[in-house]
Amino acid sequence: MEFTGPAVFTAVRTSTKRKTLSLIGLRSYLETEVVSKCLNNSVSVSAILENTVALVAFSLCAAIGLITVLRSMLSLMSSFTRHFLRAPYNHFQRYAKDKDSFVVVTGGSDGIGFEICDQMAEQGFNVCIISRTLAKIEIKLKELQVKYPKIQTKAVAFDFSKNAKISDYKEKIGDQLKDIDIAMLFLNAGHINIGNFHEMEDQEIQDSIMINSMQPVFTMKVLVDQMIER
Ligand SMILES: NC(=O)c1ccc[n+]([C@@H]2O[C@H](COP(=O)([O-])OP(=O)(O)OC[C@H]3O[C@@H](n4cnc5c(N)ncnc54)[C@H](OP(=O)(O)O)[C@@H]3O)[C@@H](O)[C@H]2O)c1
Repeated sequence: MEFTGPAVFTAVRTSTKRKTLSLIGLRSYLETEVVSKCLNNSVSVSAILENTVALVAFSLCAAIGLITVLRSMLSLMSSFTRHFLRAPYNHFQRYAKDKDSFVVVTGGSDGIGFEICDQMAEQGFNVCIISRTLAKIEIKLKELQVKYPKIQTKAVAFDFSKNAKISDYKEKIGDQLKDIDIAMLFLNAGHINIGNFHEMEDQEIQDSIMINSMQPVFTMKVLVDQMIER
């Protein structure tokens, strides 16, 4: 039985039945090649088989390598497009009702939270910051108002580590914000404990749980009804 290389590989792309046939063909092809090379060149069968296995293994590795490189290039290109070419996503267009809509940001007086406030104010949202230190919130809101004179601002001073009940959240956050249109709520305030758990003070662990775990759930709970209504 005579088989040529391309014929074998073309057959591989067809139906399952033909795939089985082509595999038999591939084997016969290899056997024919092996025998004829052995006869013609006195090369040992095992040497030729080793070469063939090495060739197949090399092709597989090359194919996997090529796919990996292509995937990395695609991901790099999409990240480049997202960060440098595409315009920022317009949350105001999508979520604001009108120019009176607010974003509410817990822990908005610093770090990531303040960056969120800045970017949302740039898009046209009014900004409400809920965090611990009133003086700090006021300084940051002033900064935003200088940069974006058209926006309204609101400050809510609330210590998440000192208020453990939903009723506290309702009274000091929910009731204060019940008349504004909340388009987006960022539950960003957080506290990171660094060090060995067994060396941490009880108070530190307690504060951390209250800020990181209770704050997002309780704040959401006291604001969710008015957000659903809108
Ligand atoms: N930065 C990072 O690399 C990183 C990495 C992973 C996750 N995060 C998370 O991202 C969030 C923001 O991080 P960040 O680095 O931007 O934080 P940050 O700069 O330390 O700012 C924290 C903000 O939360 C407020 N806050 C802290 N404790 C509070 C409390 N008990 N009650 C009320 N407000 C309180 C702070 O207000 P005061 O200044 O008035 O206290 C401040 O506005 C956190 O949840 C953090 O765990 C950050």
